[in-house]
Amino acid sequence: MKEKILQLLKNQEGQFVSGEDISRQMNVSRTAIWKHISSLRKEGYDIQSVPKRGYRLNNIPDKLYEQEIKPLLHAEVIGRRIYHYEAISSTNDRLKELGDQGAAEGTVVVCEQQLSGKGRLGRSWFSPKGAGIWCSVLLRPEVQPQYASKLTLLGAVAVTEGIKDVCGRAPGIKWPNDLLFSGKKVCGLLTEMRAELDSIDYVVIGFGINVKPVAFPAEFKDRAISLEEALGEKVDRVSLLARILEALERNYILFKESGFKPIRQKWQQYNVTLGNKVVITAHQERISGKAVAISERGGLVIETDGGERQEFLSGEVTLRE
Ligand code: BTN
Repeated sequence: MKEKILQLLKNQEGQFVSGEDISRQMNVSRTAIWKHISSLRKEGYDIQSVPKRGYRLNNIPDKLYEQEIKPLLHAEVIGRRIYHYEAISSTNDRLKELGDQGAAEGTVVVCEQQLSGKGRLGRSWFSPKGAGIWCSVLLRPEVQPQYASKLTLLGAVAVTEGIKDVCGRAPGIKWPNDLLFSGKKVCGLLTEMRAELDSIDYVVIGFGINVKPVAFPAEFKDRAISLEEALGEKVDRVSLLARILEALERNYILFKESGFKPIRQKWQQYNVTLGNKVVITAHQERISGKAVAISERGGLVIETDGGERQEFLSGEVTLRE
């Protein structure tokens, strides 16, 4: 009901609508309407009320609310249910709890601020309030656990396509999951899963996008950038998230119908890793060579300086001159 009242106010396009009209159209009492209006106000909606004229929506808060995303989202499965939090430790951790409780494929957790956002390789992820998109999506794919890294690449392709759609420019993907503009990171992805030896219960694809300019802590300052700084224009977080969730659904369907090949092709099209000299740090070892391919399993294939071909399923890549 609250969402319906909000939609009705939005449809008025800045005009007043009387409590009586709302009550007639929604078939609820005026007291019930008043309760929903005050709950919307608590969420930050600026709703003016004037005796004899009724209610008018003056401003919408810049929040990633389910009721803001859903009307823009054209997807069947991804985002069927969106849980929004003001502040939460980590969207990945919250979604894993929901996954353990049987949440359906496509469930999304998003928040304004993460209190202990997690990065890859045990690092932390800077997630200040309202400055980015801190979001996780639950999938229940029928693939073997050892092929789960393909889904990280799928996630990177989807976020790239969403950004390209809304901002007109695609970031470059650095293997496996860093999205870069001018060599600086705008987004990282962290994929986690619950699995048996031979089957996956669920996969959580978490992505963090720096959208608004912020003062990054010293350790990230030289390597991170916000989308708005990189592009020199404002970015609407709600539209961006809706386009990314659609891209996730589109690519997930493609993956299920046609396998990893078309995803790998798209990944290669956006990548800034292949063909470059790189150093990869994996299992406490540093190996130098040239990045030559993405394997069937989503791993990075390096031709080492010693002339050997090696595949890496995880690790940290630095691009060399
Ligand atoms: C990385 O590049 O190291 C991965 C960063 C992933 C950050 C996102 S933000 C939403 C989700 N929840 C987390 O705790 N981490 C991921």
